Amino acid sequence: KIAGPCAVVMFGVTGDLARKKLLPAIYDLAGRGLLPPGFSLVGFGRRDWDDAQFAQTVREAVEAGARTTFREDVWRNLSDGLRFVQGEFDDDAAFDKLAATLRALDEERGTGGNAAFYLSIPPDAFEPVCAQLDRSGLATQEQDSWRRVIIEKPFGHDLASARELNQTVEHVFGADSIFRIDHYLGKETVQNLLALRFANQLFEPVWNSHYVDHVQITMAEDIGIAGRAGYYDGIGAARDVIQNHLLQLLALTAMEQPNSFGADELRAEKEKVLAAVRLPEDLAKATARGQYTAGWQGSEKVTGFLQEDGIDPGSTTETYAAVKLEVYTRRWAGVPFYLRTGKRLGKRVTEIAVIFRRAPHLPFTDTATEELGQNAIVIRVQPDEGTTLRFGSKVPGAGTMQVRDVTMDFSYGSAFTESSPEAYERLILDVLLGDPPLFPRHREVELSWRILDRVERFWARKGRPEGYEAGTWGPRSAAELLARDRREWRLP
Ligand code: BG6
Repeated sequence: KIAGPCAVVMFGVTGDLARKKLLPAIYDLAGRGLLPPGFSLVGFGRRDWDDAQFAQTVREAVEAGARTTFREDVWRNLSDGLRFVQGEFDDDAAFDKLAATLRALDEERGTGGNAAFYLSIPPDAFEPVCAQLDRSGLATQEQDSWRRVIIEKPFGHDLASARELNQTVEHVFGADSIFRIDHYLGKETVQNLLALRFANQLFEPVWNSHYVDHVQITMAEDIGIAGRAGYYDGIGAARDVIQNHLLQLLALTAMEQPNSFGADELRAEKEKVLAAVRLPEDLAKATARGQYTAGWQGSEKVTGFLQEDGIDPGSTTETYAAVKLEVYTRRWAGVPFYLRTGKRLGKRVTEIAVIFRRAPHLPFTDTATEELGQNAIVIRVQPDEGTTLRFGSKVPGAGTMQVRDVTMDFSYGSAFTESSPEAYERLILDVLLGDPPLFPRHREVELSWRILDRVERFWARKGRPEGYEAGTWGPRSAAELLARDRREWRLP
């Protein structure tokens, strides 16, 4: 589907996210012919730029980051609709100028008065920007046009601030016009989780506590904080990705089948799961956190977190977090979900591993139960996207009946010739189409914070996180967390 006439207004256009992801994604949408002919992009910011300087910045970001090949004709059409409005977030005149710019774009390029405001800015700037959009009439929906707002995480830093933020934005834009981005929901493999579970007869019958022993959700990164000290210090791994990406993955793994993939049905099912998530009583035994120290990432020597530029040398921010959760539903009673994430780990990998119970009885005299692993379905979210099935198989040879683990593999690279769009591409297009299922609602965000708040309060009393050497798989306490349950983390 191609988006109808519209403009996007981007706040935070000089930021890292805009340069690396958002601007390239917009170009890619144009390159794939998914934007309407008069599509326009307005940058708003403090820089003393004119439209040409803005266009130059966009072009550099596009050349560096777009997936589709750079084509002059696509660029020309896109760049004709680029405008820059200079101003501070509390500057009445600048927002009036923005309103005038949007009116002019409607006349010149036929944007139909439709606009999406992309707030790629720190959460403390939401308030002034929303107030200005309100005051200048920009948030007001005319009869035959739409106004939408896109907000980037972090949606607050705890439940209370998330509530406030939600109120601030909902006061100006109606709930249906707010699109909260969690870019993991735009990933092909994450959407495929729904296909895997609900388009097949094979998996769903065993997708419950009768057959599943436990679930491990891993989001490991090999990078450090990558120049984002200002954002990361004081936030930490749990707030950065467990509150959103990992809890969303848990919700999609554990939810019941929605009646349809309509916006209300899908999100209602996820909310039910999040509302049923419980942390064990004793958080000392159910969580682990760490901070990377200097080490080796392959052949590269890397510094510790406390030595990174811009990090407070006394910082207690965690760069690794693991937590054990339970989902109190009939389907999942007694099945632990272990979530872990960290920077500077052994390698970059995100996966969901559903680990099955052992067969109740093995009739093979040559194979001891302990020699066999447990059956597993591993959904490889990235990189090397695909799904692996692990099960036991007879080792070839006469006279023995030895069984060993083997794997069966589906990989996107070899199964499909179609390429996957970047997560941001899909999500931005969904906003322009007004298609909300992939955007978490207010309640999902708050339910996720409810889970995390208890963990954060507990950690805040504990002082320093445990060190782990860069390039390893995290702190010792993380291994102990599973060992206590007689389990082990997978080595992806
Ligand atoms: C972001 C986090 O949401 O996701 C970053 O803020 C993290 O810290 C990034 O590096 C990872 O995204 P991806 O798509 O590369 O897994």
